[in-house]
Amino acid sequence: MVSRETPAPFGVRTAAEVAASDGTYNDASTPLARAAEHSVLARFGSQLRPSMPRPDHTRVFVVANQKGGVGKTTSTVNIAAALAQLGQRVLVVDLDPQGNASTALGVEHRRGVPSTYDAVVDGTPLADVTTECPDIPGLWVVPATIDLAGAEIELVSVVSRENRLHRAIQGHPLVGTAAEAGEERYDYVLVDCPPSLGLLTLNALVAGAEMMIPIQAEYYALEGLGQLLETVGMVQAHLNPALVVSTILVTMYDARTRLASGVAEEVREHFGDQVLKTTIPRSVRVSEAPSYGQTVMTYDPGSPGALCYLEAAREIASKGAPAR
Ligand SMILES: Nc1ncnc2c1ncn2[C@@H]1O[C@H](COP(=O)(O)OP(=O)(O)OP(=O)(O)O)[C@@H](O)[C@H]1O
Ligand SMILES: [Mg+2]
Repeated sequence: MVSRETPAPFGVRTAAEVAASDGTYNDASTPLARAAEHSVLARFGSQLRPSMPRPDHTRVFVVANQKGGVGKTTSTVNIAAALAQLGQRVLVVDLDPQGNASTALGVEHRRGVPSTYDAVVDGTPLADVTTECPDIPGLWVVPATIDLAGAEIELVSVVSRENRLHRAIQGHPLVGTAAEAGEERYDYVLVDCPPSLGLLTLNALVAGAEMMIPIQAEYYALEGLGQLLETVGMVQAHLNPALVVSTILVTMYDARTRLASGVAEEVREHFGDQVLKTTIPRSVRVSEAPSYGQTVMTYDPGSPGALCYLEAAREIASKGAPAR
């Protein structure tokens, strides 16, 4: 193993150096050196990363964009995993009947498994349907089963139908301030939404204090965003005045195309400081990870996708929650 004290040969950064760096992926080393670095990081990376300070209360993020396939689930699970690797206690709520976040986090979500459906439709306490992510300490998951597909319709006739998830999350004994929920409290709750603006997404918008919108760096990226922001405005006016669009994340960025940088620029012009400085590159390793029931943070921690998600998580943690 490369010693942490001696400078690494051939420009290889040790895991400790990478962990201590600002996370920007600016690697001019050779492919062989990169491979060596990846293998060191894969084994020791997460233990060597310095922790971030914890927020003083649980930050509830809703990850939404009614556009399909823009990177909602990928961003939810990888930022959640990265936050956990930075010493935070994190809960992912899978609110999409497709159950993609549950798959990527390696938790069971066949029919019959205690799930988001039970919490949202039947009012089962969230703590009773929460399970631990097998690979990542500090990360818990509420899985989604296909039953959730029926919830959109079942909820229509239910009392305070848009408030169900809010109640479930706020009723969790580990959600709240340090005084209310103690040291075991969750620092972050991330809700992964389905690609629609139905009752499930509405529940998430009512439950969250912060909204993260992943935007894919491609031509039609901004189309439909108007409708999303209108819905957010309606929720802010009538259902959840505390909701803030705090975080925009540009995903699947392909640095080789001028189109991608054009889209990123347009997003920045429109949203300013809400846009994270880190963009997520398009990377095969990111898309492969779920088929191994993993996030890229454990599947290939030294890959550009993982390093960028780690940096995005750092930005979110260091920016802190908007004033309440
Ligand atoms: N940075 C990336 N590099 C390469 N592929 C990616 C990246 N991010 C996401 N993908 C792939 O793009 C597809 C869509 O991503 P993802 O499932 O996260 O989007 P989504 O918004 O959650 O989709 P849906 O609307 O269906 O819920 C997936 O196959 C995923 O593996
Ligand atoms: Mg998804």
